[in-house]
Amino acid sequence: MKYDAILILDFGGQYCHLIGRRIRELGVYSEIVPYSISPEEIKQLNEEFNIKGLVLSGGPSSVLENGAPKINPKILDLNLPILGICYGHQLLAYMAGGEVAPAGRKEYGVAYVNINKPVDILKGLGSVEKVWMSHGDTVFSLPQDYEVLAYNENCPVAAFRHGQKPIYGLQWHPEVVHTEHGMQVFVNFLFEICKCEANWRMENLVDKLIEEIKTEIGCGKAIIALSGGVDSSVAAAIAARAIGDRLTAVYVDHGFMREGEDVFIREAFQNFNLNLLIVKAKDRFYNRLKGVTDPEEKRKIIGEEFIRVFEEIAEGIGAEYLIQGTIYPDRIESGFNKLSDKIKSHHNVAGLPTRTKFKKIIEPLRDLYKDEVRKVATLIGLPEELVKRQPFPGPGLAARVLGEVTEEKVEIVRRADAIIREEIEKTEFKNHLWQYFAVLTNAKSTGVKGDARAYGYVIAIRAVESCEAMTASFARLPYELLEKISTRITNEIPQVVRVVYDITHKPPATIEWE
Ligand code: XMP
Repeated sequence: MKYDAILILDFGGQYCHLIGRRIRELGVYSEIVPYSISPEEIKQLNEEFNIKGLVLSGGPSSVLENGAPKINPKILDLNLPILGICYGHQLLAYMAGGEVAPAGRKEYGVAYVNINKPVDILKGLGSVEKVWMSHGDTVFSLPQDYEVLAYNENCPVAAFRHGQKPIYGLQWHPEVVHTEHGMQVFVNFLFEICKCEANWRMENLVDKLIEEIKTEIGCGKAIIALSGGVDSSVAAAIAARAIGDRLTAVYVDHGFMREGEDVFIREAFQNFNLNLLIVKAKDRFYNRLKGVTDPEEKRKIIGEEFIRVFEEIAEGIGAEYLIQGTIYPDRIESGFNKLSDKIKSHHNVAGLPTRTKFKKIIEPLRDLYKDEVRKVATLIGLPEELVKRQPFPGPGLAARVLGEVTEEKVEIVRRADAIIREEIEKTEFKNHLWQYFAVLTNAKSTGVKGDARAYGYVIAIRAVESCEAMTASFARLPYELLEKISTRITNEIPQVVRVVYDITHKPPATIEWE
């Protein structure tokens, strides 16, 4: 069956990928392609899907710069509906001969636009809409053939349409949750303008992923890096469906795992019908981290050591492929896209050495967000305790011990983490929080325990709410709960004298401290 599909032309915008996600949410298949795609390539893709429309994403460039990224103008003659968002909006206006110039006042964040024509792409919107803007240039005027649909004080052309052709531009970002009626814009574009059928389901996605793995691996063998989190578990279950017992799941215990993790892994995977290998490799990780304090260096070392362990195992069983449960936010934060900034090296992405012995590293979930992975997990029947697990970083507790990683410090943070988990899991908060954990800061502080001076570590509690980890808010936990956790930590862990609560959102902080 050929599915209706939308192509998203990528200009390197931070939210480009979210456009794909919103379209998927509405049951339509979408594919992100480079902005430089040719009309011939689009026609070729049309053999696989019914391409019903194009979206031009946002991006950090200015159409006014020399060498600014532009679409092939012949794409405009394909007669496909086109929606330009932010940079895409400016580019369509500029290519049509409109006036684009640096904005008098740059807008970043929430803004309000007046909708003067709630038609076509803006059908169903109110006269004033709350939207998310993030732009330096502005469209000031358009040629005769075009009609302005929305404006505000900084943007005389905040939305437009062509008089005869299905070409639309929006200065704001409908894909970002802060745009109140962003989904309505996608509904209009997909179903009113492109006449798409909403027939794309998560089930189709699972089938597609299985097929992709089959094609990549052929009759070869693979190992999957299993961490016990939902991402790698889903990747393992899908890969097992694709290649059966030619897959071996390898769980590497680097010594930075949470309390009780080994037992959890054995129990969770015993009914999985997987070749499961648990590798104890604590000493080699600690040895390599001796004296290392820089967070990025720590991540890189752990990532590299992981790969070396996997290479050794793979060699032993003759596996040429490594499968990982990397998801989209891991990749964007690791700066995989030349135009996006690197926040940190998620160890399963940028933390990996550039040379490995594997023929290929396969990341079947690379385009999904965590909540989508959870949906797939439920769909393929993974047990609830796996589906609902909080995310845990690849470098494990080593990313939660600031400064040099020592066995003593890891043991302290492991105990504190277990106490936080125990106390939060007695409450309703466990169902609403994205993550809750302990961080061992590298501050030491004075205290008094049992009438005597004590000098010891400071533990920070981190608990956040989030939808997909790209942004997060610190959780407003009740003081009583924080008090219980703090008292238990200082009572049960002799080396800790002080507990603090992290009240920073992401941004500006990240969720993990390193
Ligand atoms: P940050 O700290 O960047 O984290 O806000 C976003 C989410 O990703 C998790 N995280 C990782 N996951 N490998 C992973 O698989 C990593 O190296 C890694 N670092 C952070 C983090 O726990 C949060 O959920």
